Amino acid sequence: MMRKQIVAGNWKMNTNYPEALDLVTNILNESKNIPDQVALYVAPPFVYLSDVYKILKDSAVKVGGQNCSWEKSGAYTGEISASMLKSVGCSFVILGHSERRKHFNEDGTILSKKIEQALENHLQPVFCCGEQLDEREAGKQKEVVENQLEEVVFLLSKEQFQKIIIAYEPVWAIGTGRTASPEQAQEMHAFIRKLVTNKYGDDVAKGLSILYGGSCKPANAMELFAQEDVDGGLIGGASLKADDFIAIARSF
Ligand code: PGA
Repeated sequence: MMRKQIVAGNWKMNTNYPEALDLVTNILNESKNIPDQVALYVAPPFVYLSDVYKILKDSAVKVGGQNCSWEKSGAYTGEISASMLKSVGCSFVILGHSERRKHFNEDGTILSKKIEQALENHLQPVFCCGEQLDEREAGKQKEVVENQLEEVVFLLSKEQFQKIIIAYEPVWAIGTGRTASPEQAQEMHAFIRKLVTNKYGDDVAKGLSILYGGSCKPANAMELFAQEDVDGGLIGGASLKADDFIAIARSF
C-alpha cells in the first residue's frame, strides 16, 4: 500500500506535567514493538510540547499540536501560532476537531485560514470531519462530510492537498464508547476517497491516509483497521494509556 498507516493520540486537555512526561516516556519505550510501517503521532497539550519533543526527538514518533491560530502573529492574547508549534519541534497539527467546532465555533472560513498557516509553516494538517448523531439519523452523514471537506480542504491546490491527512470522526462516537461499526467506517472512508479521486485524481486519493476516530480502543481497532480504506486512527481516551495506545498501533 502506498499510503501511510498512522496512529495518532489526541490527549485533549488531559495530564499534568509529570503525567505527560511519564506517558510519553512509556510510549517511546513501547514504540519499538509496533510494525515498521505504522507511524505514531502524539498531540499533547501546548505547554508540554517542547519537553515531549525533547524526549521523542531521536525517535520516529511525531509530535504535534491540537490546534493552531488562524493568524501569523500579533495581538491575539492566548493564541498559539503555527510557527510557534514548528519552532518547538511539531511536525503536524490537528485542525477542525469537533470539540473545536462546537466549543469555539470553528467553521470553514477559520479552518481554511488555519490550514494555510499550518502549510506555510510546514506542519502537516490532520483535518477532522464527521457528522452529528441527528445528522446520521436523518441519513445526511455523507452530505455533511462532503460539505466539511468542500469548504476547507477541497479549496487547496493538489500539491497542498497531498500534504494533509483526513480523520473521519463521527461526533456521536467521540468519547461515548459507541464506535462506528467497521462497515460504517469503511463506507464513509471509501466515500471520502471517492470525492478525493473526483477532485484530485486517483493517485492523490490512493496516497491519502484517512484515519478513523471515535471510541477506538484495543478491542475494536483490529476490525476497523482491517477495512480497506481505514488507514489508522485518531485516538482520544485510549491514547492516555501507553499500553492501550501501543496495542492499537499493533492492530494492523
Ligand atoms: P475518543 O476521542 O477516542 O476518546 O472517542 C477521539 C477524538 O476525539 O479524537
